[in-house]
Amino acid sequence: MKLKQLAFLLPFVAVTANAEDIVISTDNNALVYNVADNGRVYQKYFGKKLKNASDYASMPNGQEIYITSGMEDYYEPALHIVHADGNPSTLLTYTGHKTSTLADGAKQTVISLSDKEYSDNVDVYFIVYPEHDIIKTYTTITNGEKKPIKLEKFASSMLHFDNGDYYLTQFNGDWASEANMSETKLEYGRKQLDTKLGARANMFCSPFFQLGIDSPAKENSGDLLVGTLGWTGNFRFTFEVDHKGELRVISGINPYASSRILKKGETFSTPEFIFTLSDEGQGKASRNFHDWARDHQLYKGNDTRMTLLNNWEATYFDFDENKLVNLIGEAKELGVDMFLLDDGWFGNKYPRHSDTQGLGDWDETKNKLPNGIGALTDAAKKNGVKFGLWIEPEMVNPKSELYEKHKDWVITLPNRDEYYFRNQLVLDLSNPKVQDYVFDIVDGLKTKYPDIAFFKWDCNSPITNIYSNYEKMDQDHLYVDYVKGLYNVLDRIQAKYPDLLMMMCSGGGGRSDYEGLKYFTEFWPSDNTDPIERLYIQWGFSQIFPAKTLCAHVTTWNRSTPVKFRTNVAMMGKLGFDLKLDDMSKDEVAYCKRAIKNYNSLKPVILEGDQYRLVSPYEGEHAATMYVGKNDGDAVLFTFDIYPRYKQQITKSESTVKLNGLNPSARYAVTEIDRTDGKDSKIGEYSGEYLMQVGIPLFTLNRLNSRVFSIKKI
Ligand code: GLA
Repeated sequence: MKLKQLAFLLPFVAVTANAEDIVISTDNNALVYNVADNGRVYQKYFGKKLKNASDYASMPNGQEIYITSGMEDYYEPALHIVHADGNPSTLLTYTGHKTSTLADGAKQTVISLSDKEYSDNVDVYFIVYPEHDIIKTYTTITNGEKKPIKLEKFASSMLHFDNGDYYLTQFNGDWASEANMSETKLEYGRKQLDTKLGARANMFCSPFFQLGIDSPAKENSGDLLVGTLGWTGNFRFTFEVDHKGELRVISGINPYASSRILKKGETFSTPEFIFTLSDEGQGKASRNFHDWARDHQLYKGNDTRMTLLNNWEATYFDFDENKLVNLIGEAKELGVDMFLLDDGWFGNKYPRHSDTQGLGDWDETKNKLPNGIGALTDAAKKNGVKFGLWIEPEMVNPKSELYEKHKDWVITLPNRDEYYFRNQLVLDLSNPKVQDYVFDIVDGLKTKYPDIAFFKWDCNSPITNIYSNYEKMDQDHLYVDYVKGLYNVLDRIQAKYPDLLMMMCSGGGGRSDYEGLKYFTEFWPSDNTDPIERLYIQWGFSQIFPAKTLCAHVTTWNRSTPVKFRTNVAMMGKLGFDLKLDDMSKDEVAYCKRAIKNYNSLKPVILEGDQYRLVSPYEGEHAATMYVGKNDGDAVLFTFDIYPRYKQQITKSESTVKLNGLNPSARYAVTEIDRTDGKDSKIGEYSGEYLMQVGIPLFTLNRLNSRVFSIKKI
C-alpha cells in the first residue's frame, strides 16, 4: 500500500536541508518540528494553526520527534533497535526533509533521520489532508549496517502534549458488545490500549481513541485529538504522563511477541496512524474522519451502498436451494438491492451443517445445493437482485479436507494439544502458498460464478496455538507477516476484481480499522442487532466511521421492539434485513417496504451527508442523530425514546431536541415521515436558528418509540 502511494509521488516541490522549523499544517492545525543545534528534531508545537508561521520561531522546543531507546529519556521509547554489535541505543539526527504533493492532492512531508554511527535511517512521513484536518503519519526504518539488526519497538507515531489535563476515551467490549465508550483521566504513569489477538484483532478493543485536552470530551466543544491505527492486526496505543505532567502518545503495531530482524539494506514500513485535532469536540472530529474517509480512504468511498437481505438469522445452517430461492424472492418483494447467502453452503466430506466442521472446503454441499451457487445467482438475476456470498477464507476446521491435506498451512504449535476458538484454527498467511490458496478461493468462485457481486469476508477466530511452520526460527515475525500476507491477498483481489464489493466481518466487529477499509466497502460492527444495543454500538463506531461503512440489519433480536424502531436504528447505517417475511405481520412487511423506499431516497443525506449526534443514549433514555445533506442542506433526523420509568414525567426541556448543522438564516419545513400509518405529518416551519437554539419537542414518553423527520429548506 505504501508502495502504491510512493509510485504516485509527483516530483518534489521543495527540498529544504537547513530549515529550522518544519511546519506540517492542515487548514486549522499545525504540527511544528524544529531541527535543534545538536542536529536532533524536536516537536515544538501541536495545536491551532497560527496566522503568522514566523511566530513558531519564538516557541521553545519540546520533546524529541521519535524518542529512541537507550539515550537520555526515561520513559517508553517509540523506537528500540538492537544494532548488529548488540548496542541497544539509537541516536537519530536530521539529514533533511522534503515536501511534495501526492496524486490525491495530499501534501506529504518526509523528515529524514539517521544514526550516523550505525548508518540506520528513519524517515518520518506526514501526509496531510488540509481541508479535512486529517494527518496520516508513519515511519520507515532502514538497516544500513552490514549485518542484521533487531527491531524491538517500532511505533508509527509519537506525539507530545504539554497541557495539564488529559482525558482518554476508549472503545472496548467483547463479542456482541463492541465499542463501548468510557473515559478516564490520565494521571502519572502509563496506560495502554492494545490487542494480542492477531486476527479478529478488535474483539475486545477497537483501534481508535479520543483524547480530551484540558477537559473531558464533549460533543460540540473542547479540544480533542482522535487517532486510529490503520492495521488489521495487533495494535498498541501507549499514553504516558511523565513527572512533569507531559503526555506522550505512542501509536503503532503492538511490539508484543513481534520483534523483527531487519536484514542488511532492508526497510520496514510501519502502518499509518491517522489523526485529527478538533476544537469543537467529538462531532467535528467525527465529521473530519467521515469526509476524509469517503474522499481518500474507503474503498469506493464516494459510491452509494446496497441494501440487502441476509439469510443468517433467517435460517442459520438449515437451508437448501428451495429455501434460498424463496428468500431471494423475498428480497425482491421487500425491495432490497441484494441477497446475501451466509455460512453453511460448503463442504462435502464434512458438510458445514454447524460451526464444527467444513471450513476450508469451499465447494458447495451437494445435497443442499445440487445445482451449485449458479442456481442461486440465476434466481437472483431473475428477481432483479444482486447476489452476495459469505466466506471465511483465512480459517480451517480441524474436521475438514483442507486440514487433512495441509496441516503445514495451519498455525498450530508443535508438541502441544491444539485448542480451538469456535472449533477452528487460523491458516498461516505469512506463507505465500497459503496466500495463493486464499486468493484462489475468491478467484475460483468469481471465475465460476461471475455474477457474485459481493463477499462477506468473515474471520471468527483470533490467532491461537501461535506457531508458524513457515516462519521457522523467526516466529516473532508471524503477527506482522500474517497481516502483510492478508493485504497481499486483498491487493490481488482488488486488482483483478475492481468492481467486487466486500464486507469486512469478524465474528461481529472484530475487525474495524481504516487499512482494512481500503479493501472493504463496509464492515459488520456487531452480531448484536438488538436495536437498543445497536444505538450504543453505532454511537461508538460513528465517532470515527461514516454511516455508509456501518452495516446495520433489522433482525428478530429483541423482537418485542417494534419493527419500525428496529428499522429506524438500522437506517442510520447501511440498511439490511436478516429475517424471513413470515417473522413479521403483513402490516410490518408493508411498513418495511415503505421504509426501504424512504431509505433509498434518504441515502444521499445519510450516507454522504454530515452527521450530527444530538442526544446520546449514554446520557439518558432518549437518543437523536441527524444527517445534513452536502448539496442542498436538507436534513433527516432520527429520534428514539427508549425506556421511560414508571410514572416518569417529561419536562418541556427534556422533550426538546436542538438540531445542528443547519443554516441559521434559512427556513425549514419539518415533517415526520416513515410513519407506520404511511402518512407524513407536518410538524411546522422554523428558521434554522430556531431549530438549533430553541429546538422542538420531539421526544415522548412512549416506550421503544422512534421517529424520522425530514427537514427541508423552504
Ligand atoms: C459470524 C458473523 C455472523 C455470521 C456467522 C456465520 O459470527 O459475525 O454474521 O456470518 O459468523 O457463522
